[in-house]
Parts: sequence; C-alpha cells; structure tokens
Amino acid sequence: MAWDPGTYLSFEAERTRPAAELLARVPNESPPYVVDLGCGPGNSTALLAARWPQARIEGVDSSPDMLTEARGSGVRADWSEADIVSWTPPQTPEVIFSNAAFQWLGEHERLLPRLMSLLPKGGTLAFQVPRNFDDPSHTLIREVAGDGPWAAKLRNIRSSWSVLAPEDYFSILEPHAARIDIWQTRYMQVLDGPDAVYRWTSGTGLRPFSAALADDEREAFLCEYRQRVAKAYPVRASGKTLFPFRRLFVVAWR
Ligand SMILES: C[S@@+](CC[C@H](N)C(=O)[O-])C[C@H]1O[C@@H](n2cnc3c(N)ncnc32)[C@H](O)[C@@H]1O
Repeated sequence: MAWDPGTYLSFEAERTRPAAELLARVPNESPPYVVDLGCGPGNSTALLAARWPQARIEGVDSSPDMLTEARGSGVRADWSEADIVSWTPPQTPEVIFSNAAFQWLGEHERLLPRLMSLLPKGGTLAFQVPRNFDDPSHTLIREVAGDGPWAAKLRNIRSSWSVLAPEDYFSILEPHAARIDIWQTRYMQVLDGPDAVYRWTSGTGLRPFSAALADDEREAFLCEYRQRVAKAYPVRASGKTLFPFRRLFVVAWR
C-alpha cells in the first residue's frame, strides 16, 4: 500500500500543527540524538531539526515514497527505512518522537514499553495519534465499503484502528515512566475548496481501501464516499469546510 506524499502534504499546515504542539511539551534541552518514528515526508522532522540544531536527527519510515520526499526536503536529518515495530536505534536516543504514525501499528501494549526501554533516564517518548475514528469521515469509509459490489474485496481491510483511550495509555506507560502528560485537543479545522474532507482522507484513511480495488471499481467506490462525506461536512457559502478533528497527545519521561 503506497503513500502519496503530494496528497498527504496538501494539508501540511493542519497535519504539522499537532507535531509542534507535542514538541512544545518535550523538555529535553540538548539531546545528542533524536528520532522521528513515521517521519513521512519530513514535515515533523523539520521541527526537530530546528529545535535542536546540534543534535543528530533521524527520520524513520517504512514507505520508500515518503523517504524519497523527505530526502529531497532539505531538512537536516538522516533518513532510514525501517518498520517501527522492529526498529532498533543505532545509538541511545534521548528523545523518541512520533506524530500521526502509531495509529497504523497494532499492539501498543507491547510497542510503548519497548520504546521506553530504549530511552536513558530523563529521556522522553512523545507521540500524537488521531482519535476521530468514530466521526463521519471514517465511519462513512466503512459504511460505503460494506455497501456496494466491492464489499467482499474490502471485507478484510482493517476497519478498526489501534488507538486506545487516554486511560489505557496511562496504564501502559505508568510502570515505565517517572511522569506522564496526556491530553486531547479537538481542532476545528477550517479547510478550503470543494471536497475538502474527501481530499483529506484520500491522503490517509481511504488509501488501504482504494488500493484494494481495480480502477473502475475504485472510481465508483470513491465517488460514493465523496458524495456521502460532502453531505456530512457541508461547504459553507464562503467556500470553507469545518472539519472537527480530535487528537491525543502523550509525553512520557523515563
Ligand atoms: C500520517 S504520516 C505522518 C507523517 C509525519 N510524521 C507528520 O507528522 O505528518 C504516517 C507515516 O507513518 C509511516 N508508517 C506507518 N506504519 C509504519 C511502520 N510500521 N513503520 C514505519 N513507518 C510507518 C507511514 O509510511 C507514513 O509516512
């Protein structure tokens, strides 16, 4: 399932803002080595490079297309292709950062303690994940997927996400952390232009579904979703669309 960095970056400001707000809660002053897990096209990594000009910064991602974009971004960082689940750092990271990536992985109960164990005392694990999977932008994907000639092909596509409740993250991290900061923000995103929410999910949650279909079926599936999602998030007279979006932030200090 390929990522399309161009589609993803069409909402770069909205997608990068939570990374900046997460980073603002990371206290480490001069970490020698900082890693950005699921760095994508390098938009979140750029914030890390700017915050710590002396640090070695490494962006890690499993998508070759995203890494090609990251390498061409001019951001001062090393870039590595790896799966977060099995990634092992080449040196001890003082900060492990991840913006909008862990929702693609399962088994957070195993992942997070493992990442904490890689940190030194005083090190920080900071991550942000969307928690809007019960909103129409996502429920309509599942609804349309189960409601057409493509239903059999889409049945096995993951339709639930591995994002847990804030209390669950606290329980998972508590035995491994000296201090934990958890909060949620419900952004009221203001998007420009027609089919804004459709264009947003085309860069993320829709991809596994459209990738599983052949061209003509994909077109019909996307057309049906686009019409339903446009009704759920109507365009205002000004041409703007309001797209509420809840995100969960976690900062754990070892
Ligand atoms: C939504 S993008 C986030 C990009 C960037 N961090 C940001 O702040 O906008 C999610 C990224 O996670 C990567 N990803 C998903 N699963 C992964 C895995 N198992 N290992 C490594 N990267 C993964 C994807 O390739 C994608 O580039």
